[in-house]
Amino acid sequence: MCLQRINLPRMAGFTGYSAYLRAKLPNSTNGEVQTVNIVLGITGGIAAYKAPDLVRRLRERGAEVQIVMTASAEEFVTGTALQAVSGRPIRANLWDKEAEAAMSHIELARWADAVLIAPATAEVMARIVSGGAPDLLTTICLATEAPIALAPAMNHVMWSNPATQANRAVLEERGIHIIGPGIGSQACGETGAGRMLEPDVIAATVFNLTGGKGQGLLEGKKVVITAGPTREAIDPVRYITNRSSGKMGYAIASAAAAQGAEVVLVSGPVNLMEPSGMEVVHVESAEDMYAATHASIGDADIFIAAAAVADYRPAEAVEQKIKKSNEAMTLEMVRCPDILASVAALEPGPFTVGFAAETENVVAYATGKLEKKKLDMIVANRVGRDCGFDRDDNAATVLWNGGDRSFPTSSKVELARNLIELAAEHFYAVRGSETQPKLTVISNID
Ligand code: PMT
Repeated sequence: MCLQRINLPRMAGFTGYSAYLRAKLPNSTNGEVQTVNIVLGITGGIAAYKAPDLVRRLRERGAEVQIVMTASAEEFVTGTALQAVSGRPIRANLWDKEAEAAMSHIELARWADAVLIAPATAEVMARIVSGGAPDLLTTICLATEAPIALAPAMNHVMWSNPATQANRAVLEERGIHIIGPGIGSQACGETGAGRMLEPDVIAATVFNLTGGKGQGLLEGKKVVITAGPTREAIDPVRYITNRSSGKMGYAIASAAAAQGAEVVLVSGPVNLMEPSGMEVVHVESAEDMYAATHASIGDADIFIAAAAVADYRPAEAVEQKIKKSNEAMTLEMVRCPDILASVAALEPGPFTVGFAAETENVVAYATGKLEKKKLDMIVANRVGRDCGFDRDDNAATVLWNGGDRSFPTSSKVELARNLIELAAEHFYAVRGSETQPKLTVISNID
């Protein structure tokens, strides 16, 4: 057995590593990234508590963020906190003489490469539709020529109200981008469409509107991701499947898009809202997933297999519903194609990341899969009644040839961010530079 340690560039955390990666990215000049100026409007909704995280996500990507708060936003989040994370004085008042003298609302409208309102209430949507400008934020919306994006957040009944939907339609007709909202449980205790999307998804979408001026870690790279379960038909009404909800794979797809990647998400049947800013290909069976993956993989840089693909399917899916007859019945099963192994075998192929869902001996079995399937990286994922499948949190240990890193339990969104950063790190180390050592494939584990 031959193991070779990969020498990665020394990293001093995300910022240092971003600088290292950005120096390699196509749009950067002399290693410097063009700054993107974003006016972030915050209106009065409970989702305003996510604003500091959103500012962080925008700044991580190199944006200068000027926050403009409405009076009602100040009921939900303090200007002091937002000033600290944005590094700029907050603007809230159209009639603030001192602030206007430094940069007038018209200058602010011209300074912006994009205007983002997150959270956007039903009220601000209606005001923008009417063309009214009673406050600084709506005045900037009227005065700017930059793209405008709104991330609505409100109670699901308010969102589905015909007045709000009519306003949404008018805004979209006028070229204003509506990001989300997502579906899920709401602050009011009800469930439905109206949740503000996650900050990293919003940040990625806004950067796409600025014509590629900003840079994510995976800008210019194509990432193909599989997610969710597969369904293997027994007859026209029955199938074999598993408990995968698709949450992990969808979170990884959003995290990759947030880092600027072109993402193709090949999804088994799930009950999740389609994420924006990527191509989503819906499939049912393992064979469909195999075909859809290979249709997109040709020019992919990274492949991540988060789907829980069936290992076996019924040998035959009969045309008519099977009738009860005998006391027992036997289903003959045959192997499904192994999508992950087939992609890893491509020459040249993408940087390939697999998952290993295990109930016991998690790291040992994952190591076996890393080696046997000749992967660049594998995510060892303990699964069981109370972990892994069909829940919002997860923990994992990532293994590669010569190293590993463990991530304790966190939300799948947070874990996905970490996985994408780690995958990008190793992708550039292994494939990004002629001077970086190549991975040695380990061929014999027994
Ligand atoms: O969807 P969630 O509810 O959020 O749950 C997330 C998850 C637990 C499903 C996810 O984190 C996970 O672990 N995914 C991998 C599930 C799995 O099928 O693992 P496995 O050890 O059986 O397969 C190993 C690898 O081969 C996986 O990357 C799998 O996608 C891939 N595979 C397996 C069989 C097959 N026919 N083709 C494949 O590509």
